[in-house]
Amino acid sequence: MSTLSFRWARLHELTAPEWHVVLAAREAVFIVEQNCPYQDADALDAQSWHLTGTCDGQLAAYLRVVDPGCKSVHAGMFYAEPSIGRVLTVSAFRGKGFGQQLMREGIDGCTRLFSGQGIRISAQSYLLDFYRSLGFVEVGDEYDEDGIPHFEMLRAPD
Ligand SMILES: CC(C)(COP(=O)(O)OP(=O)(O)OC[C@H]1O[C@@H](n2cnc3c(N)ncnc32)[C@H](O)[C@@H]1OP(=O)(O)O)[C@@H](O)C(=O)NCCC(=O)NCCS
Repeated sequence: MSTLSFRWARLHELTAPEWHVVLAAREAVFIVEQNCPYQDADALDAQSWHLTGTCDGQLAAYLRVVDPGCKSVHAGMFYAEPSIGRVLTVSAFRGKGFGQQLMREGIDGCTRLFSGQGIRISAQSYLLDFYRSLGFVEVGDEYDEDGIPHFEMLRAPD
């Protein structure tokens, strides 16, 4: 099985070409593929860790970890915990276990960076089993976010 090479960076540590590759991948997946007109590049990018996974020098997978207390899904309510989001595998690299590798590195990174805190996510409903297999459990009822059904999920600290 191929293994991803990971890099963690804050936004200001990425070069313009590196950031362009990330944004192009996010737009290709979350706007074009999922046919969802929404604001992808947002203010939270400056309040996040960005995790890139490369394979043979190409971006294959990506997620961001929004700092504790910054992510809001419902008006005025902020996640107290770090929040993993924008989880993607570039379409040409899917079905190789990269999504699993990416999430495991994301969880390990949260544990290192935010020791003792859980991880809260807004998960697309079709991936409930994927996130359950990584230790997340649903909190509350399904809700709509940008026209896509989601569940809030929480992973307890290790
Ligand atoms: C979700 C995603 C990151 C998975 O990436 P991947 O590299 O193909 O995932 P893996 O090969 O590691 O598969 C891991 C598990 O994901 C689940 N999974 C992957 N694609 C799935 C799909 N389309 N529907 C349901 N489950 C899926 C499977 O349970 C799989 O487990 P398996 O080993 O039993 O088959 C990828 O399909 C993607 O980028 N999707 C679009 C973006 C998205 O919806 N992100 C999540 C936002 S909450």
